[in-house]
Amino acid sequence: MKFLERWVDTITHPPAFGLDISDRTAKFIQLAKNKNGGFDIAQFGEMEISEGIVVSGEIKKPAELGKLLRDFRDADGKRVRDRFVVASLPEEKSFVRVIQLPKVKLQEVDSVIKWELEGNIPLALSELYFDYEVLDPVANHLDHYDVLVTAFPKSLVDSYVAVLKHEGFVLVALELESQAISRAVIEDPGGKEAVIIVDIGATHTGFIIFGGGSMIFTVSIEVGGKDFDEAIMKGLGVSQEEARNLKKNIGLDRRFKNGVLFEAMVPTLSVIMDEIKKQLWFYRDHAEHRHGIDPEIRRIILSGGDANLVGLEKHLSLALKKEVVVARPFVKILNKEHATLPPLKKSDIIRYTTTVGLALRGAGY
Ligand SMILES: Nc1ncnc2c1ncn2[C@@H]1O[C@H](COP(=O)(O)OP(=O)(O)OP(=O)(O)O)[C@@H](O)[C@H]1O
Ligand SMILES: [Mg+2]
Repeated sequence: MKFLERWVDTITHPPAFGLDISDRTAKFIQLAKNKNGGFDIAQFGEMEISEGIVVSGEIKKPAELGKLLRDFRDADGKRVRDRFVVASLPEEKSFVRVIQLPKVKLQEVDSVIKWELEGNIPLALSELYFDYEVLDPVANHLDHYDVLVTAFPKSLVDSYVAVLKHEGFVLVALELESQAISRAVIEDPGGKEAVIIVDIGATHTGFIIFGGGSMIFTVSIEVGGKDFDEAIMKGLGVSQEEARNLKKNIGLDRRFKNGVLFEAMVPTLSVIMDEIKKQLWFYRDHAEHRHGIDPEIRRIILSGGDANLVGLEKHLSLALKKEVVVARPFVKILNKEHATLPPLKKSDIIRYTTTVGLALRGAGY
């Protein structure tokens, strides 16, 4: 994504840490190459962000975010001293889409892409950074090119860059959250399998269709863990803390209190499921374009904190008749011999998917 490269400080750098800023949390991981050619976790940490500082990915209070980042500490309470960083931009605001372009028209690619963006993003072209990449065809003999188009609002990129630079960070790379997630989650990037990654975070759920070595489409909805929490509070008349505990410990287990908890969570779950269905259909309907890649999405890969919900995989696989798996974001690190696992709870590992993807890039993966 070249439009993001203009911000990057092109100097040689030690492994940079990955920094994932969400609305209510920021997380970082720094990897170090080990003697065996793999990576170890050098440092990692997480901090809470109070409500209102970052809203739907927009930095509303830059000075306060800066102050938090200045005092970022790792899991042992040590202040983060390294300055080199790979950071992500919020998925809510990004545009990612593969479009088809007749071969003869490659010289017109600019105007086709502008047309596509104007029809899909409610912002003037002058307010966007955008970029495109002609994808390597999975099958040759195509009469057209597949072109990956990415775009992001200028003002937002600028605001992330400003806060990070103001705090003395050196930006080694800036990328879309979906890019980082794909890097961490896709175990065989060159494969022909088409998958959908569903990242269920506290405030939003991101959907990434990936196949043939590239992202094909992404979308994000403003529904996430907080909606489960609120529905449980209302439905069962409990406090926020109790609601979270019920969600984490009982989840989608229908046997609990005659299914009242399950019933409370169903509306939120349905919104997420309906979006997956829509994407499965959309992909199938446009499969004639996916030369060589699976004509159907074969697997659903879950990530984000609410992917921990007890019974979620089973529920989705029965309802959608697809294989559903939970992502293993540390696989690319741990595949290597003698790599050490981070001292994280199993349920926390999946919350670090984006951060792992960023850290992998920072370590030169
Ligand atoms: N064991 C668990 N079972 C169910 N949900 C869990 C569990 N552990 C954490 N969560 C939920 O995960 C969510 C946080 O996940 P994550 O860290 O991926 O979100 P985030 O990246 O901060 O948010 P976003 O990306 O939406 O801005 C919260 O809703 C939390 O309640
Ligand atoms: Mg997240």
